[in-house]
Amino acid sequence: MAFMGSLRVLPVRQREKVRFALSLDESGEILQAYLTDIFVQGWVAALNVRDLETSDHTQRVTRATIALGRALGLDAGTLRIWRWGALLHDIGKVAVPDSILHKPGPLVEEEWAVMKKHPLLAKTILEKASFLPPEVIEIPLHHHERWDGSGYPFGMQGGEIPLSARAFAIVDVWDALQSERPYRFPWQEDRVVRYLKTNRGRLFDPYLVDLFIRLLQEQID
Ligand SMILES: [Fe+2]
Ligand SMILES: [Fe+2]
Repeated sequence: MAFMGSLRVLPVRQREKVRFALSLDESGEILQAYLTDIFVQGWVAALNVRDLETSDHTQRVTRATIALGRALGLDAGTLRIWRWGALLHDIGKVAVPDSILHKPGPLVEEEWAVMKKHPLLAKTILEKASFLPPEVIEIPLHHHERWDGSGYPFGMQGGEIPLSARAFAIVDVWDALQSERPYRFPWQEDRVVRYLKTNRGRLFDPYLVDLFIRLLQEQID
């Protein structure tokens, strides 16, 4: 396997450790996680260079998504998948022109139409990486779906939307509203919490909104 050959670049002791780990990896799970991690880190670096979203935003929403997943009692393997999905959530924006991405004002209808393609573009990119666990695509593809069916790209509703994407949608909006935009002042957290409460059962999964607000509250207390 080409991968085994590439181990030659590692120092001898590290190479032995990787060989040993792989010899125990009958299901290929460790190798898959290893490759996925390298792939995700590479993309995160590329997205930061392209300045699509600040790396702070990416790190914050990833941390908060994992906290929400932990509170739901998810196992380590699923949390790892949520982490990769969160880190890659806006990967599809690499194909959106700068004139739209960095426009210093609200987008007009045609620009929104281009912007709204980014979840499907994410799928086009990620499905080429055949070693990725297929669930990694859930957050990049579905994070703009909304509980009442008003989101995109498919207008999915309620429990049709994967759990990971329902959780991430709350966290992404929570962080985005608190960040400054060229056309909007950042909101204070209490205003954001009111917005989430108002939209529980409309835009967002009501159970997950309640859980997330409880986590925020615990952090403050
Ligand atoms: Fe997005
Ligand atoms: Fe985001």
